[in-house]
Amino acid sequence: IIIIIIIIIIIVYIIPLHRQVLFLIWFFSLASVFGQIIYSVPEEMAKGSVVGNIARDLGMDVKRLKSGKARIFTSDTPEYLELSRDRGVLLIKERIDRETLCRQTTPCALHLQIILENPMELFRITIEITDVNDNRPTFKNVEKRFEISESAVSGSKFVLERAVDADIGINGLKNYSLKPTDNFVLKIENQADGNKKVEMVLRKPLDREKAEQISLLLTAVDGGEPQMSGTVKIFVTVLDVNDNAPVFSQPVYKAAIAENSKMGTTLATVSAADADKGTNGDVFYSVSTTIDNVSDTFAINEKGEVILTGQVDYEKAKYYQVDIEARDSGGLSDSSKIIVDIIDINDNTPVISILSKSDSVPESSHLSTVIVMFSVLDPDSGSNGKVNCRINPNVPFVITASSNDFYSLITDSDLDRERSSEYNITVTCSDEGVPSLSSSVTLTLKISDVNDNAPVFERSSYEAYIVENNTPGLSIFTVKATDADWNQNARVSYILEDSSINGVPVSSYLSVSADSGVIHAVRSFDYEQLKDFQFLVKAQDGGSPPLSSNVTVKILIQDQNDNPPQVLYPVQTGGSVVAEMVPRSADVGYLVTKVVAVDVDSGQNAWLSYKLQKATDRALFEVGLQNGEIRTIRQVTDKDSVKQRLTVIVEDNGQPSRSATVIVNVAVADSFPEVLSEFTDLIHDKEYSDNLTFYLVLALAVVSFLFITCVVVIISVKIYRWRQQSRILYQSNLPVIPYYPPRYSDTLGTGTLQHVYNYEVCRTTDSRKSDCKFGRAGSQNVLIMDPSSTGTMQRIQSEKSILDEPDSPLEVRLQHYFL
Ligand SMILES: *[C@@H]1O[C@H](CO)[C@@H](O)[C@H](O)[C@H]1NC(C)=O
Ligand SMILES: *[C@@H]1O[C@H](CO)[C@@H](O)[C@H](O)[C@H]1NC(C)=O
Repeated sequence: IIIIIIIIIIIVYIIPLHRQVLFLIWFFSLASVFGQIIYSVPEEMAKGSVVGNIARDLGMDVKRLKSGKARIFTSDTPEYLELSRDRGVLLIKERIDRETLCRQTTPCALHLQIILENPMELFRITIEITDVNDNRPTFKNVEKRFEISESAVSGSKFVLERAVDADIGINGLKNYSLKPTDNFVLKIENQADGNKKVEMVLRKPLDREKAEQISLLLTAVDGGEPQMSGTVKIFVTVLDVNDNAPVFSQPVYKAAIAENSKMGTTLATVSAADADKGTNGDVFYSVSTTIDNVSDTFAINEKGEVILTGQVDYEKAKYYQVDIEARDSGGLSDSSKIIVDIIDINDNTPVISILSKSDSVPESSHLSTVIVMFSVLDPDSGSNGKVNCRINPNVPFVITASSNDFYSLITDSDLDRERSSEYNITVTCSDEGVPSLSSSVTLTLKISDVNDNAPVFERSSYEAYIVENNTPGLSIFTVKATDADWNQNARVSYILEDSSINGVPVSSYLSVSADSGVIHAVRSFDYEQLKDFQFLVKAQDGGSPPLSSNVTVKILIQDQNDNPPQVLYPVQTGGSVVAEMVPRSADVGYLVTKVVAVDVDSGQNAWLSYKLQKATDRALFEVGLQNGEIRTIRQVTDKDSVKQRLTVIVEDNGQPSRSATVIVNVAVADSFPEVLSEFTDLIHDKEYSDNLTFYLVLALAVVSFLFITCVVVIISVKIYRWRQQSRILYQSNLPVIPYYPPRYSDTLGTGTLQHVYNYEVCRTTDSRKSDCKFGRAGSQNVLIMDPSSTGTMQRIQSEKSILDEPDSPLEVRLQHYFL
């Protein structure tokens, strides 16, 4: 027995399988010797395979099998085996499956009998079926699903399905494996019934966020050769647990927003991710800064949009730090922050502040005099806060920058109040932003006056006319000067410059009203004494020091017909009677005499005409209207009386005209004694009338004297103080040329009479006395007849030399001569 066991072990382990079969056949053939034949065949042999040589193993001839009609008897159905009587071998008739035949029973054998006839014999044959690894381990389901929360702890067990292998023994189920082994490991526990309990154990916690689906493969293997296996798929679905906090995508966010942006502007979008699923993954955002102005200014909505909810002003805060928080429904949170930079917008206009200002500046100010100092502030930044200032053109000022933001306004050319007394200076400051903002301020600067302008007369010289015999105090004329300065500096006073006219101070002729420039006559002028004169009027302003200018004023005195004609010839004397002699033989047109008169007035006022007013015999004489010549107009007859009396009136041409009368006595006689006898009574007449005139004149003189005395006394007392030298004698430089009668020429061509009138004019110094006074004795007022004259024109004495005679200021000697 020991030897047999050793042999079997050697067979099993050393000899290859196909040799085993043969060896076992041989071995069991040996056993038949002992009464029973045992074959051992593996299952699943092909049909027709030889199981064993029955004839040989039974020790009989094949013929015996045939003759004995050997046949197999078995209770098994179907019949797995058949007997080949020809060959004497046992063959496989049907495929033999050990697992169907015996299931897990071992050993597994087929029992059959071979029955022979002639003689009847019975042989028992056992055919042992050996296992072949023809079954793989199998699982009932092809897959298995688990749902495991990610919060499941390590060591958690999950039961798996066992596999089944129909083979037995070594070919049976041997082992399991589970792959991959990241999270789970396999645990196999042998149970009392010999089965194995297959479990998988959580080795490492699950993380849905890493792997939501895990698939595993459980493999069961048997111990056969070749090895066979079966698998089952295991799907693990990891169930979510809120185990992840939200996480912001950035630790710090940056955003920028322009100041003054509208509320509701979205300035950034933040996001926090929560790895969890579903509601566990919902994130809620909030602003966590507690500083008031930040939490009021910014908000964050459920989408993570940061929204402006207040006002941002670059000038108040240049940036904000907003702390934000993301929180999920489980209270897990993360924080981050947003740095919000505020972008400057040019929203501030420059502010001009006047630091100091002069309201007025004198026109004499030097260049670069500071007038205004001001500062300009613009709180914006960069070019938005960069300010440039300028002023309106055409003003004599410039802006200079004294230092940052500080400016001054200075004069840059000379000021002249007279050109422009006030300036409106508009300072405009604008920043460099786009669009630019600007502000401006208008300053009114007055230029104060300096006395830099002298008064200026309206004309370079004045000429004024005044009619003589004016009333003293009459305003003649007004001079006017203007001064371009202002106020006191322009207050013009008029001053009469001292000068003298013919040695008399001008102030005794005129006065000038200091305020108005009205020139008044101080006295009454007499054309006959003074025809014109000139003087200077100074205009002076009220500045300090005063400025002045002067102007020449010429006054022209105009003539008035204030002097009656003066009869020079024939001379009217009180005592003697002068008569012209007319010879009785005189022809018609005989020149009796010539009335000579002068008028000290001038022009028309001195234009004299002569008329015969009364005559003893009007038919005998006529008077030349222009020349005053008395001529006969008819032949003298003996009937004509010797004594002829003519009254000639001399009139000037003034308005109204003035006149003088002269009585011309004419003696119509051939001899002088005849004349004398006729004129004696005339002399008496004259004496009588002279006496009468004398008394009348005396009475009038007395009355006048009393009246004038009273007036003079009163006036003298009144004016004594300011005019002691009230009487100023006036001496004329110029002669008064009286009327020259036109040259006479005798048209008749008969005997020419040459008369030379030599007379002297004496003038008083008082022009108001119009009467001419003859200063010489009557003896000189004589008619000189010079019959020896030759008829040639003869100048007795140069008229000019007489007129220019220096020692004759008080009298004018006038020579009038006739050819
Ligand atoms: C300055 O402005 C004032 C007020 O606007 C005005 O009355 C005045 O005439 C202006 N002066 C000049 C010189 O423009
Ligand atoms: C008057 O003015 C002129 C210049 O305008 C000056 O030369 C002259 O001296 C002045 N005369 C007097 C008397 O002031």
